[in-house]
Amino acid sequence: MKFIIDDASIEKIKEIYDTFAVDGVTTNPSILAKNGKQPFETLREIREFIGPEAELHVQVVAADAEGMVEEAHRIQKELGMNTYVKIPTTKEGLKAMKDLKKEGANVTATAIYTQMQAFLAGKAGADYAAPYVNRIDNLGANGVRAAKDIHDIFKKNGLKTEVLAASFKNSQQVLELCQYGVGASTISPDVIEGLIKNDTVTMAVNAFTKDFEGLCGAGMTMK
Ligand code: E4P
Repeated sequence: MKFIIDDASIEKIKEIYDTFAVDGVTTNPSILAKNGKQPFETLREIREFIGPEAELHVQVVAADAEGMVEEAHRIQKELGMNTYVKIPTTKEGLKAMKDLKKEGANVTATAIYTQMQAFLAGKAGADYAAPYVNRIDNLGANGVRAAKDIHDIFKKNGLKTEVLAASFKNSQQVLELCQYGVGASTISPDVIEGLIKNDTVTMAVNAFTKDFEGLCGAGMTMK
């Protein structure tokens, strides 16, 4: 499973890259708005930091297929070849996906709340489909189950599209999809921090240090 950061703050991205093995960054218009700077200023800064090989997923805002394709061209031109254009999986979005795939663009179908949306995006040739796990949970359905179903739908229908699971709110959701072997998950920095935060582990490590210092003296290490 690829491990992607869902954020646009360059400080947070740098912090996460420093510690974790990361495959790229996703953004959406709300994430860019929260960051405050002009969208392309932020995105160019992210691209420069993550390098040309890493995946950068950037969403279009237009509601019609023609507008989406136009925005996609600008996004690709500004941000380079490993940029994935995120297209909302609406009727117009499906048309834009088909057109963009004909041109050889990288496409991530986003705003996926149902298995059928994902199937249609797969048929349109999308590289990734992004089910919104926690938002689906909030509707009273099961977001993890939906992401697993979508993974199975792609495999059973011979579609090359991979799941890019999104909108996580806790470690359990991430773990279940990691165990299932979905293609990728994009996770916000606070949820990423929670993946490794464990007081029991901290206590165990502290106890080792205390015992060692009892033997060798305070502040001593294996040197
Ligand atoms: C990813 O494609 C989505 O934009 C994002 O993960 C949505 O996350 P949220 O539900 O936390 O806003």
